[in-house]
Amino acid sequence: MYNFIFQNTTKIYFGENQLQHLSEELKQYGNRILLTYGGGSIKKIGLYDKVMDELKKANFSVFELSGIEPNPRHTTVNKGADICKKENIDVLLAVGGGSTIDCTKAISAAAFYDGDSWDLVTHKVPVTKALPIVTILTLSATGSEMDSGAVISNIDTNEKLGLLHPLLQPKVSFLDPANTYSVNAFQTACGSVDILSHIFDCYYFTASKKMDMADRIMEEVIKTVIKYAPIAIKEPENYEARANLMWASSWALNDFLTTGVSQVPVCHAMEHELSAFYDITHGLGLAIITPRWMKYVLDETTAPQFKKFGVNIFGVDESLPDMQGAERAIECLSDFLFNTLGLQSTLTEIGIDDKNFKIMAKKACWGSVLPSLKPLGAQDIEEIFKMCL
Ligand code: NZQ
Ligand code: ZN
Repeated sequence: MYNFIFQNTTKIYFGENQLQHLSEELKQYGNRILLTYGGGSIKKIGLYDKVMDELKKANFSVFELSGIEPNPRHTTVNKGADICKKENIDVLLAVGGGSTIDCTKAISAAAFYDGDSWDLVTHKVPVTKALPIVTILTLSATGSEMDSGAVISNIDTNEKLGLLHPLLQPKVSFLDPANTYSVNAFQTACGSVDILSHIFDCYYFTASKKMDMADRIMEEVIKTVIKYAPIAIKEPENYEARANLMWASSWALNDFLTTGVSQVPVCHAMEHELSAFYDITHGLGLAIITPRWMKYVLDETTAPQFKKFGVNIFGVDESLPDMQGAERAIECLSDFLFNTLGLQSTLTEIGIDDKNFKIMAKKACWGSVLPSLKPLGAQDIEEIFKMCL
């Protein structure tokens, strides 16, 4: 277990009718707001109107950036940064899923840089300053509402990279589960897999010695997602299910569960190459990769950890030998992902072949080795991609 510093400064308003506090929170940062959102879902669900009503009542000057893409592009970040500079924006209000929030985070830093925002994402120039960010979450998945990371894509270079800086941490996030009622079955499933994957990356599947207390909490969060994701898919307006997924989303990646471990998000590293090259939905890529990765790294040394996962999460028979128990655990997870959640199970099904695997594998491990449960080099990663076909 490593020493750690834990600080999470995002203030959360959870539940219904909390938007009455929106103006008082924004006012602390100024009067000129850039409202950011995606392709229009917030208008369809009436949230745009509700937010605008609150902002009008408090006489804010509101500017807008709409059309933020899933897998948000650095070119959109540049557009947002230009508005911030031109209009002297004081505070950013992101209303949407992880893509909108991530794009907004990158805008908040790019607003203080007179160049291409891609320079910040590639760490060519450091983040030195950022505008304050307030978010209204509409999709439970990424944890972006309560973390300091942003993932930005450059479609010209087929790159999708993370930008991590404490200044990008949202000041305030509004989490109303009812805002996720309209999330369709596919996005609900993908979001749930993303939550699970954030936990898997630091649960038993990391090589470092860990905090038992964190592991136990992780198991409970995993079980929560496994219980409530199918309910939310069947009954989209089930408040309890949406609320549990929403709070799980925030806690799966807000630095609490990773305390004391060295976390290497291997499945995320591989998935980001898939969405960089093929613009697929993040959670779908994770669902296809995760069981293959588990099978690839399964051997006598890793089997006990996978078996423990199966026993504690899926009720796999504890008396089974380690290897059999581990195999059963991976089967149970695959069944949940592809049968219960109904996600496609292979890359072939979503039109992806092996053409770019070599280059994607090299990029996923930065031409070196991903030091996880079992170190993975480019050749290993290429093999895992092939297992996904
Ligand atoms: O664009 P709109 O019209 O809003 O539609 C979106 C989009 O099409 C729709 N949606 C969102 N809320 C909705 C809704 N549709 C109906 N009702 C609602 N209430 O859902 C689609 C997907 O939205 P998106 O924001 O892309 O999804 P998600 O929240 O899963 O974000 C994915 C992005 O976040 C990154 C991913 O790589 C991906 O780029 N990640 C960010 C992380 C972070 N900041 O810490 C960590 C994650 O591991 C992840 O990498
Ligand atoms: Zn993720």
